[in-house]
Amino acid sequence: MQILVCGGAGYIGSHAVRELYRAGYEVLVLDNLVKGHREAIGDIPLVEVDINDKPSLEQVFQKQKIDAVMHFAAYSLVGESVVEPAKYYHNNVLGTLNLMEVMLSYGVKRIIFSSTAAVYGEPVELPITEEHPTRPTNPYGATKLAVEGMLHWFGQAYGLNYVSLRYFNAAGADVAGDIGEDHQPETHLIPLVLQTALGVRPEIKIFGTDYPTPDGTCIRDYIHVTDLANAHLLALEKIINEGGSAIYNLGNGSGFSVREVIQVAQEVTGKLIKVMEAERRPGDPAVLVASSEKIKKELGWQPRYADLKTVISTAWHWHSKHPDGYISK
Ligand SMILES: NC(=O)c1ccc[n+]([C@@H]2O[C@H](COP(=O)([O-])OP(=O)(O)OC[C@H]3O[C@@H](n4cnc5c(N)ncnc54)[C@H](O)[C@@H]3O)[C@@H](O)[C@H]2O)c1
Repeated sequence: MQILVCGGAGYIGSHAVRELYRAGYEVLVLDNLVKGHREAIGDIPLVEVDINDKPSLEQVFQKQKIDAVMHFAAYSLVGESVVEPAKYYHNNVLGTLNLMEVMLSYGVKRIIFSSTAAVYGEPVELPITEEHPTRPTNPYGATKLAVEGMLHWFGQAYGLNYVSLRYFNAAGADVAGDIGEDHQPETHLIPLVLQTALGVRPEIKIFGTDYPTPDGTCIRDYIHVTDLANAHLLALEKIINEGGSAIYNLGNGSGFSVREVIQVAQEVTGKLIKVMEAERRPGDPAVLVASSEKIKKELGWQPRYADLKTVISTAWHWHSKHPDGYISK
Protein backbone atom coordinates (compact mmCIF):
# COMPACT_ATOMS: atom_id res chain seq x y z
CA MET A 1 0.00 0.00 0.00
CA GLN A 2 1.31 3.43 -0.88
CA ILE A 3 0.68 6.24 1.61
CA LEU A 4 1.03 9.88 0.55
CA VAL A 5 2.33 11.90 3.49
CA CYS A 6 1.62 15.61 2.97
CA GLY A 7 3.89 17.68 5.19
CA GLY A 8 6.03 14.57 5.71
CA ALA A 9 9.30 16.54 5.87
CA GLY A 10 8.11 18.40 8.99
CA TYR A 11 8.60 17.47 12.63
CA ILE A 12 5.67 15.10 13.24
CA GLY A 13 5.30 14.05 9.60
CA SER A 14 8.90 12.81 9.40
CA HIS A 15 8.36 10.64 12.49
CA ALA A 16 5.18 9.21 10.95
CA VAL A 17 7.12 8.54 7.72
CA ARG A 18 9.69 6.59 9.74
CA GLU A 19 7.02 4.50 11.51
CA LEU A 20 5.19 3.82 8.22
CA TYR A 21 8.45 2.69 6.64
CA ARG A 22 9.26 0.49 9.65
CA ALA A 23 5.80 -1.09 9.35
CA GLY A 24 6.42 -1.95 5.68
CA TYR A 25 4.27 0.65 3.90
CA GLU A 26 5.41 2.28 0.70
CA VAL A 27 5.68 6.00 1.44
CA LEU A 28 5.68 9.06 -0.79
CA VAL A 29 6.25 12.44 0.86
CA LEU A 30 4.68 15.60 -0.54
CA ASP A 31 6.05 18.81 0.94
CA ASN A 32 6.85 22.30 -0.33
CA LEU A 33 9.70 22.46 2.23
CA VAL A 34 8.52 25.88 3.43
CA LYS A 35 9.04 24.60 6.98
CA GLY A 36 10.20 21.04 6.42
CA HIS A 37 13.67 19.52 5.94
CA ARG A 38 14.82 17.17 3.16
CA GLU A 39 17.25 15.56 5.63
CA ALA A 40 14.36 14.52 7.89
CA ILE A 41 13.19 11.82 5.46
CA GLY A 42 16.48 10.31 4.29
CA ASP A 43 15.98 8.29 1.10
CA ILE A 44 12.17 8.30 1.14
CA PRO A 45 10.87 9.70 -2.18
CA LEU A 46 9.79 13.34 -2.03
CA VAL A 47 7.67 15.40 -4.43
CA GLU A 48 8.28 19.06 -3.82
CA VAL A 49 4.73 20.31 -4.34
CA ASP A 50 2.54 22.89 -2.62
CA ILE A 51 -0.97 21.71 -1.72
CA ASN A 52 -2.22 25.04 -3.06
CA ASP A 53 -0.94 24.10 -6.53
CA LYS A 54 -3.83 21.97 -7.76
CA PRO A 55 -2.44 21.05 -11.23
CA SER A 56 0.76 19.70 -9.64
CA LEU A 57 -1.25 17.79 -7.04
CA GLU A 58 -3.27 16.25 -9.86
CA GLN A 59 -0.10 15.10 -11.59
CA VAL A 60 1.02 13.32 -8.43
CA PHE A 61 -2.26 11.40 -8.18
CA GLN A 62 -2.21 10.68 -11.91
CA LYS A 63 1.29 9.17 -11.81
CA GLN A 64 1.08 7.33 -8.49
CA LYS A 65 -1.38 4.85 -7.06
CA ILE A 66 -2.19 6.36 -3.68
CA ASP A 67 -4.13 4.22 -1.20
CA ALA A 68 -4.42 6.74 1.64
CA VAL A 69 -3.25 10.19 2.66
CA MET A 70 -1.79 11.44 5.93
CA HIS A 71 -2.13 15.20 6.02
CA PHE A 72 0.28 17.12 8.26
CA ALA A 73 0.84 20.12 5.94
CA ALA A 74 -0.27 23.35 7.62
CA TYR A 75 0.93 26.50 9.30
CA SER A 76 0.74 26.18 13.05
CA LEU A 77 1.97 29.30 14.85
CA VAL A 78 -0.89 30.50 17.04
CA GLY A 79 0.44 34.07 17.45
CA GLU A 80 1.10 34.49 13.73
CA SER A 81 -2.40 33.24 12.95
CA VAL A 82 -3.89 36.06 15.02
CA VAL A 83 -1.96 38.69 13.05
CA GLU A 84 -2.29 37.01 9.62
CA PRO A 85 -5.50 34.94 9.61
CA ALA A 86 -5.73 35.06 5.79
CA LYS A 87 -2.41 33.22 5.50
CA TYR A 88 -3.81 30.49 7.77
CA TYR A 89 -7.19 30.13 6.04
CA HIS A 90 -5.42 30.03 2.69
CA ASN A 91 -2.91 27.32 3.54
CA ASN A 92 -4.77 25.26 6.11
CA VAL A 93 -8.33 25.41 4.75
CA LEU A 94 -8.02 26.16 1.03
CA GLY A 95 -4.94 23.95 0.67
CA THR A 96 -6.79 21.07 2.35
CA LEU A 97 -9.86 21.63 0.17
CA ASN A 98 -7.62 21.33 -2.92
CA LEU A 99 -6.07 18.16 -1.58
CA MET A 100 -9.42 16.56 -0.76
CA GLU A 101 -10.93 17.49 -4.13
CA VAL A 102 -7.99 15.96 -5.97
CA MET A 103 -8.08 12.85 -3.76
CA LEU A 104 -11.78 12.34 -4.50
CA SER A 105 -11.36 12.90 -8.23
CA TYR A 106 -8.82 10.04 -8.22
CA GLY A 107 -11.01 7.84 -6.01
CA VAL A 108 -8.80 8.12 -2.90
CA LYS A 109 -11.16 8.06 0.07
CA ARG A 110 -8.95 7.63 3.12
CA ILE A 111 -7.33 10.48 5.04
CA ILE A 112 -5.72 10.90 8.46
CA PHE A 113 -5.77 14.56 9.45
CA SER A 114 -3.57 16.47 11.95
CA SER A 115 -5.97 18.40 14.12
CA THR A 116 -5.17 20.08 17.42
CA ALA A 117 -6.17 20.71 21.02
CA ALA A 118 -6.59 24.34 19.88
CA VAL A 119 -10.04 23.41 18.48
CA TYR A 120 -11.33 23.30 22.09
CA GLY A 121 -10.36 26.80 23.24
CA GLU A 122 -10.65 27.65 26.93
CA PRO A 123 -11.31 24.38 28.84
CA VAL A 124 -14.63 24.11 30.68
CA GLU A 125 -13.75 20.71 32.18
CA LEU A 126 -10.65 18.57 32.60
CA PRO A 127 -9.38 16.26 31.31
CA ILE A 128 -10.60 17.34 27.87
CA THR A 129 -12.55 14.61 26.07
CA GLU A 130 -13.68 14.63 22.42
CA GLU A 131 -17.14 15.73 23.67
CA HIS A 132 -15.77 18.98 25.06
CA PRO A 133 -17.22 22.08 23.30
CA THR A 134 -15.14 23.30 20.36
CA ARG A 135 -14.71 27.07 20.64
CA PRO A 136 -11.27 27.97 19.28
CA THR A 137 -9.82 31.22 20.57
CA ASN A 138 -7.45 31.83 17.65
CA PRO A 139 -7.52 31.53 13.83
CA TYR A 140 -5.13 28.56 13.84
CA GLY A 141 -7.60 26.47 15.88
CA ALA A 142 -10.48 27.80 13.80
CA THR A 143 -8.84 26.66 10.54
CA LYS A 144 -8.38 23.15 11.94
CA LEU A 145 -12.00 23.05 13.08
CA ALA A 146 -13.09 24.27 9.62
CA VAL A 147 -11.25 21.32 8.07
CA GLU A 148 -12.93 18.94 10.52
CA GLY A 149 -16.24 20.34 9.26
CA MET A 150 -15.23 19.64 5.65
CA LEU A 151 -14.17 16.11 6.58
CA HIS A 152 -17.55 15.46 8.18
CA TRP A 153 -19.61 16.72 5.24
CA PHE A 154 -17.34 15.12 2.63
CA GLY A 155 -17.77 11.88 4.54
CA GLN A 156 -21.55 12.23 4.38
CA ALA A 157 -21.72 13.26 0.73
CA TYR A 158 -18.79 11.50 -0.96
CA GLY A 159 -18.05 8.53 1.30
CA LEU A 160 -14.69 9.91 2.47
CA ASN A 161 -13.29 7.88 5.40
CA TYR A 162 -11.28 10.01 7.80
CA VAL A 163 -9.64 10.03 11.20
CA SER A 164 -8.99 13.42 12.72
CA LEU A 165 -6.36 13.31 15.47
CA ARG A 166 -6.43 16.21 17.90
CA TYR A 167 -2.89 16.38 19.24
CA PHE A 168 -1.91 18.10 22.45
CA ASN A 169 1.80 19.07 22.72
CA ALA A 170 4.02 16.91 20.54
CA ALA A 171 7.50 16.51 22.02
CA GLY A 172 10.62 14.33 21.98
CA ALA A 173 12.40 12.71 19.07
CA ASP A 174 12.97 9.32 17.50
CA VAL A 175 15.19 7.22 19.81
CA ALA A 176 17.87 7.04 17.10
CA GLY A 177 18.49 10.79 17.63
CA ASP A 178 18.92 11.55 13.91
CA ILE A 179 15.54 13.28 13.38
CA GLY A 180 13.81 15.71 15.70
CA GLU A 181 12.21 19.08 16.19
CA ASP A 182 13.60 21.96 14.12
CA HIS A 183 11.06 24.76 13.77
CA GLN A 184 11.89 28.29 12.63
CA PRO A 185 10.91 30.15 14.70
CA GLU A 186 10.78 27.72 17.63
CA THR A 187 7.87 28.35 20.01
CA HIS A 188 7.62 25.01 21.83
CA LEU A 189 8.75 24.75 25.44
CA ILE A 190 10.93 21.62 25.41
CA PRO A 191 13.18 22.61 22.45
CA LEU A 192 13.47 26.14 23.89
CA VAL A 193 14.52 24.77 27.29
CA LEU A 194 17.06 22.39 25.73
CA GLN A 195 18.49 25.10 23.47
CA THR A 196 18.97 27.17 26.64
CA ALA A 197 20.82 24.22 28.22
CA LEU A 198 23.05 24.15 25.12
CA GLY A 199 23.78 27.89 25.32
CA VAL A 200 22.04 28.54 21.97
CA ARG A 201 19.61 30.77 23.93
CA PRO A 202 20.56 32.88 26.96
CA GLU A 203 17.54 31.99 29.13
CA ILE A 204 14.08 30.46 29.17
CA LYS A 205 11.13 32.72 29.91
CA ILE A 206 8.32 31.47 32.14
CA PHE A 207 5.16 33.31 31.16
CA GLY A 208 3.12 33.59 34.37
CA THR A 209 4.00 32.23 37.80
CA ASP A 210 0.69 33.02 39.50
CA TYR A 211 -1.62 30.48 37.84
CA PRO A 212 -3.88 28.41 40.12
CA THR A 213 -1.59 25.35 39.77
CA PRO A 214 0.65 23.73 42.46
CA ASP A 215 3.77 25.68 41.42
CA GLY A 216 2.03 28.65 39.78
CA THR A 217 3.09 27.81 36.20
CA CYS A 218 0.99 26.48 33.31
CA ILE A 219 0.38 22.75 32.97
CA ARG A 220 0.41 21.07 29.54
CA ASP A 221 0.11 17.54 28.21
CA TYR A 222 3.23 16.38 26.32
CA ILE A 223 2.92 13.42 23.98
CA HIS A 224 5.97 11.72 22.51
CA VAL A 225 6.18 12.18 18.76
CA THR A 226 6.75 8.45 18.15
CA ASP A 227 3.62 7.59 20.18
CA LEU A 228 1.81 10.14 18.04
CA ALA A 229 3.20 8.60 14.86
CA ASN A 230 2.10 5.13 15.96
CA ALA A 231 -1.44 6.40 16.59
CA HIS A 232 -1.47 7.39 12.89
CA LEU A 233 -0.67 3.83 11.90
CA LEU A 234 -3.52 2.50 14.06
CA ALA A 235 -5.87 5.09 12.55
CA LEU A 236 -4.76 4.07 9.07
CA GLU A 237 -5.34 0.37 9.81
CA LYS A 238 -8.79 1.24 11.12
CA ILE A 239 -9.90 3.01 7.94
CA ILE A 240 -8.29 0.41 5.70
CA ASN A 241 -9.87 -2.55 7.52
CA GLU A 242 -13.20 -1.17 8.71
CA GLY A 243 -13.75 2.14 6.91
CA GLY A 244 -15.80 4.73 8.77
CA SER A 245 -14.56 7.90 10.41
CA ALA A 246 -13.59 9.11 13.86
CA ILE A 247 -12.11 11.91 15.91
CA TYR A 248 -9.60 11.14 18.67
CA ASN A 249 -7.61 13.16 21.18
CA LEU A 250 -3.94 12.37 21.55
CA GLY A 251 -2.18 13.32 24.73
CA ASN A 252 -0.55 11.25 27.41
CA GLY A 253 -3.16 12.12 30.03
CA SER A 254 -0.85 13.62 32.61
CA GLY A 255 0.10 17.24 32.64
CA PHE A 256 3.44 18.74 33.58
CA SER A 257 4.08 22.31 34.67
CA VAL A 258 6.63 24.61 33.03
CA ARG A 259 8.78 24.40 36.17
CA GLU A 260 8.60 20.59 36.17
CA VAL A 261 9.76 20.52 32.53
CA ILE A 262 12.71 22.79 33.37
CA GLN A 263 13.58 20.70 36.46
CA VAL A 264 13.56 17.41 34.51
CA ALA A 265 15.55 19.04 31.69
CA GLN A 266 18.21 20.06 34.24
CA GLU A 267 18.38 16.46 35.50
CA VAL A 268 18.62 15.01 31.98
CA THR A 269 21.20 17.50 30.67
CA GLY A 270 23.18 17.96 33.89
CA LYS A 271 23.17 21.72 33.19
CA LEU A 272 21.78 24.66 35.10
CA ILE A 273 19.07 26.29 32.95
CA LYS A 274 18.73 30.04 33.40
CA VAL A 275 15.11 31.11 33.93
CA MET A 276 13.47 34.51 33.56
CA GLU A 277 10.00 35.03 35.00
CA ALA A 278 7.68 37.11 32.83
CA GLU A 279 4.05 38.23 32.73
CA ARG A 280 1.29 35.83 31.70
CA ARG A 281 0.58 35.74 27.93
CA PRO A 282 -3.00 36.59 26.99
CA GLY A 283 -5.07 33.52 26.10
CA ASP A 284 -2.90 30.91 27.85
CA PRO A 285 -5.18 28.63 29.93
CA ALA A 286 -3.76 27.42 33.28
CA VAL A 287 -4.16 23.71 32.50
CA LEU A 288 -4.63 21.75 29.24
CA VAL A 289 -4.74 18.00 29.69
CA ALA A 290 -6.29 15.46 27.33
CA SER A 291 -8.29 12.36 27.91
CA SER A 292 -7.09 9.84 25.32
CA GLU A 293 -9.32 7.05 26.62
CA LYS A 294 -11.32 6.90 23.38
CA ILE A 295 -8.36 6.00 21.12
CA LYS A 296 -7.04 3.57 23.74
CA LYS A 297 -10.38 1.80 23.92
CA GLU A 298 -11.29 1.83 20.23
CA LEU A 299 -7.89 1.40 18.55
CA GLY A 300 -5.83 -0.11 21.37
CA TRP A 301 -3.36 2.80 21.35
CA GLN A 302 -0.88 2.80 24.26
CA PRO A 303 1.84 5.42 24.69
CA ARG A 304 5.27 3.82 25.04
CA TYR A 305 7.17 6.98 25.99
CA ALA A 306 4.72 8.63 28.39
CA ASP A 307 7.18 9.49 31.11
CA LEU A 308 8.49 13.10 30.99
CA LYS A 309 12.09 12.07 31.57
CA THR A 310 11.99 9.77 28.52
CA VAL A 311 10.36 12.46 26.38
CA ILE A 312 13.04 14.99 27.36
CA SER A 313 15.91 12.47 27.07
CA THR A 314 15.01 11.62 23.47
CA ALA A 315 14.70 15.32 22.64
CA TRP A 316 18.09 15.97 24.30
CA HIS A 317 19.67 13.17 22.26
CA TRP A 318 18.57 15.02 19.09
CA HIS A 319 19.29 18.62 20.21
CA SER A 320 22.69 17.90 21.72
CA LYS A 321 23.80 16.30 18.43
CA HIS A 322 22.11 19.04 16.34
CA PRO A 323 22.29 22.32 18.31
CA ASP A 324 21.35 24.30 15.18
CA GLY A 325 18.85 21.73 13.89
CA TYR A 326 19.31 20.00 10.55
CA ILE A 327 21.94 22.47 9.36
CA SER A 328 24.29 21.36 12.18
CA LYS A 329 27.28 19.48 10.83
N1 LIG B 1 3.73 20.24 16.90
C1 LIG B 1 2.65 20.14 17.67
O1 LIG B 1 2.77 20.07 18.91
C2 LIG B 1 1.27 20.08 17.06
C3 LIG B 1 0.16 20.06 17.92
C4 LIG B 1 -1.12 19.99 17.35
C5 LIG B 1 -1.27 19.89 15.98
N2 LIG B 1 -0.17 19.94 15.18
C6 LIG B 1 -0.39 19.84 13.71
O2 LIG B 1 0.41 18.78 13.23
C7 LIG B 1 0.89 19.06 11.91
C8 LIG B 1 2.39 18.90 11.87
O3 LIG B 1 2.98 19.75 12.85
P1 LIG B 1 4.57 19.93 12.91
O4 LIG B 1 4.90 20.45 14.25
O5 LIG B 1 5.22 18.71 12.39
O6 LIG B 1 4.75 21.12 11.85
P2 LIG B 1 5.91 21.37 10.77
O7 LIG B 1 5.82 22.80 10.40
O8 LIG B 1 7.19 20.84 11.28
O9 LIG B 1 5.43 20.46 9.54
C9 LIG B 1 4.50 20.88 8.59
C10 LIG B 1 5.04 20.49 7.23
O10 LIG B 1 4.08 20.86 6.23
C11 LIG B 1 4.74 21.48 5.16
N3 LIG B 1 3.79 22.39 4.51
C12 LIG B 1 3.18 23.48 5.05
N4 LIG B 1 2.39 24.07 4.14
C13 LIG B 1 2.47 23.33 3.00
C14 LIG B 1 1.89 23.42 1.71
N5 LIG B 1 1.07 24.43 1.38
N6 LIG B 1 2.19 22.49 0.79
C15 LIG B 1 3.04 21.46 1.09
N7 LIG B 1 3.64 21.33 2.29
C16 LIG B 1 3.36 22.25 3.24
C17 LIG B 1 5.94 22.19 5.79
O11 LIG B 1 6.99 22.44 4.88
C18 LIG B 1 6.35 21.19 6.87
O12 LIG B 1 7.28 20.25 6.38
C19 LIG B 1 0.40 20.47 11.58
O13 LIG B 1 -0.76 20.36 10.80
C20 LIG B 1 0.08 21.06 12.95
O14 LIG B 1 -0.95 22.03 12.86
C21 LIG B 1 1.08 20.03 15.68
